[in-house]
Amino acid sequence: MSKAGRRSRRAPRWLFVTGTDTGVGKTVLTVWLVRHLHAAGRRAAAFKPICSGGRGDARELWRAQGGAWTLDEVNPWHFGAPVAPLLASRREGQVVRLSAVVRHLRRVAAAVEFGVVEGAGGVLSPLGEGFDSRDLVVALRADPVIVGMNRLGAVSQVRLALRALPPGARRRAWVILMEPARPDRATAGNLALLRECEPGVKARVLPWILRWREPLVRMDGAVRRVLEEVVGPARPRGGAAG
Ligand SMILES: Nc1ncnc2c1ncn2[C@@H]1O[C@H](COP(=O)(O)OP(=O)(O)OP(=O)(O)O)[C@@H](O)[C@H]1O
Ligand SMILES: [Mg+2]
Repeated sequence: MSKAGRRSRRAPRWLFVTGTDTGVGKTVLTVWLVRHLHAAGRRAAAFKPICSGGRGDARELWRAQGGAWTLDEVNPWHFGAPVAPLLASRREGQVVRLSAVVRHLRRVAAAVEFGVVEGAGGVLSPLGEGFDSRDLVVALRADPVIVGMNRLGAVSQVRLALRALPPGARRRAWVILMEPARPDRATAGNLALLRECEPGVKARVLPWILRWREPLVRMDGAVRRVLEEVVGPARPRGGAAG
C-alpha cells in the first residue's frame, strides 16, 4: 500500500473549534466535546496548538483528558504576551509555521478517531506566519465549529465568521450559541433569526452552566445530544484523509 494510503487509513476526523471572538466559550466547548467523546468510548485528542497570554487553555484541555497526552503535546507553542499569537510569537523571536502545526497535530493524533482543535481568537485571528484558523481548517480538512455568545450582535458575528470560511468548510460548519450568564433581549430570538438568514445552517444553543468543569453525566441530556450531533460519526476506516 502507498504511504499516502497508509496515512489515510489512520486519519482522524478533525473538529476545529473557532469563534466569533475571544472569550466566547471555545475552551468550554472543546472540554465538553473531548469529555463527551471519551465518555462514549471513542479515542479522541484535544489540542490548543498555539497559546498566547499564558497556557491556561492548554491546561484546561490537558486536565480534561486526564493527562492522556503531555501538556507539550496538547500545546507545543505558547507565548506570554496577551495579544494575537502572531504578535506574541514575534516578541519572543519565534516563528510558527502552518506546516509544523499540521505535522504536530497529525503525529500526536495518528491513532485516534477524533482530533479536536481549539484555535485562538476568531476565524481570521493571525495564528502564525501567514496563517490563521481558516488555513488550519483547510489544511486539516476539519469540520469547523463556530462558537458565539448568544447576545445582541451574535447573528451578524456568526454570519461573518461563516463567510470567512471557504464554501466546503462552511457547508460542514456547526454553530454553537453559548447562553451568556445574563441573557439580553436578543438572546431568545437569535437562533431563529440566524436560521432565517442562513437557511440550512447547523446551529444549536448550549446553556450557561456555572460549574462547567463538572462531569458530563450531571449535564442535561439535551446538552449531551447536541455534543453528539456536533461530533458526528468517526471517519470510516480507509476513508479520505484529514
Ligand atoms: N456555557 C458556559 N457555561 C458556563 N461558563 C461559560 C460558558 N461559556 C463560557 N463560559 C465562561 O466564559 C469564560 C470564557 O470562555 P472560554 O475560556 O471558553 O472562551 P474562549 O473563547 O475559549 O476564549 P479565548 O479566546 O481566550 O480562548 C470561561 O472561563 C467560562 O467561565
Ligand atoms: Mg479558549
